[in-house]
Amino acid sequence: MVPTSAESATHRRALILASAITALGGLLFGYDTGVVSGALLFLQNSFGKMSAFDKEMVTSLLLVGAAVGALIAGRAADRVGRRPTILVTALVFIAGVLGAAFSPAFWFLIVMRFVIGLAVGSASMTVPLFIGELAPPQLRGAFVSFNQLAITIGILVSYLVDYGLGSSQNWRLMFGLAAIPAGLLFVGTLFQPESPHWLINRGREDDGRKVLARFRADDEIDEEVEDVKRVSRQENKAPRLVDPALRSVLVLGISLAILQQVTGINTVIYYAPTLLHGAGLGSSAALLANVVNGAVNVAMTIVAIRLLDRVGRRPLLLSGTAGMALGMVVVAVTFAAGGTTLRGDYAIAAIVGLLIYTGSFAIGLGPVFWLLIAEIYPQQIRGPAMSIATLANWAANFVVTISFLTLLDAIGGRGVFFLFAFLSLVGLAYMFKRVPETKDLSLSEIQVQIEHGDSEAMRAVATNRS
Ligand code: BGC
Repeated sequence: MVPTSAESATHRRALILASAITALGGLLFGYDTGVVSGALLFLQNSFGKMSAFDKEMVTSLLLVGAAVGALIAGRAADRVGRRPTILVTALVFIAGVLGAAFSPAFWFLIVMRFVIGLAVGSASMTVPLFIGELAPPQLRGAFVSFNQLAITIGILVSYLVDYGLGSSQNWRLMFGLAAIPAGLLFVGTLFQPESPHWLINRGREDDGRKVLARFRADDEIDEEVEDVKRVSRQENKAPRLVDPALRSVLVLGISLAILQQVTGINTVIYYAPTLLHGAGLGSSAALLANVVNGAVNVAMTIVAIRLLDRVGRRPLLLSGTAGMALGMVVVAVTFAAGGTTLRGDYAIAAIVGLLIYTGSFAIGLGPVFWLLIAEIYPQQIRGPAMSIATLANWAANFVVTISFLTLLDAIGGRGVFFLFAFLSLVGLAYMFKRVPETKDLSLSEIQVQIEHGDSEAMRAVATNRS
């Protein structure tokens, strides 16, 4: 039975709505990580003078919380389901951001940043996990990457809020506004179904079929259910996280997680204004450049979403990572040539370099990392395996963020940015060798191929289908 176009439009709408609600988790991830840069400037109004260490605590305890949150959420998502995990995550978000907004003392604020981090870490893995299991293979790239789009929008909104509230110095409102999307995430998730794949795996096939019927044409359901059951039967015989066949995919996820961070994205996302200001730009020019950078991040993520299911994951990942290296070389050379104060053309060149870098991240490593870790793991260990990769991502983010300013002092802008360019090139070589093409393959097909160590075959299947 061929679906009518009205039918498929209804399915598409249902999928867009479900993904948009879930992606509010990504929005909160972006907002809560981005908002702190502006809020930091005004904390002293309430708590007295802030040392550099105090500022680092407010910024990075969220990252520590996120690592812990990712770990807990992986287990929870497998045991109790994706939906309850997201519901609890939304409640933790609400408690954390309101707690931060009403903090009576500095230590309390730090604890609340850790609590927000728990929710950010959980959202960072459950959102792509859930959407990945809801979307049909041929649209999965775009829909899972809604999450990355939401992250970038969250970052941009946080920059604008910081900018808008700057004159009133109202850091409490900066933190507290996140309660709105967090409330929407909670209420919206109350109306969401559980993941069909999770249900089928738990032996609740009828429930799984009912959920699939909301998002798929009737004739697609049988095949998908059979696929999930077949893989689940196979997995009952084999995979554990320590299984050698799985070790290579685990290493791949962890490596991409680390590469996403050690190539420097969050030094730009968190510190661009500090860097540009320190390099001689006026503070409003630095803030404006930051907003433009945030906008480029959003715009290029939209481009990626349009291309991921057409040209595939690999071309975007490889060209994006090459672009990141190029952008960093431009920034490094500018710092090398321009000396300590960047004026005129040097300032423009540095900003252009940063924009090339961020735009390239947004088209490749940004969305593709989160997408791949939602695709490459077998159903039954997807939760824990994704949470390991997510944990590695947050841990690497923490290490880079906490050491960046010290490194900058030690080896200067030129040294740091050449280092990021070099690491991008190392990453590029690794990805070229190791990352499979997963476009158009069902999650079950990806598993079968990976278990046979057959990434060449995956590339071939994906290419033939397009
Ligand atoms: C990364 C974040 C980063 C964001 C920037 C995400 O994919 O995981 O660490 O801040 O992209 O857009």
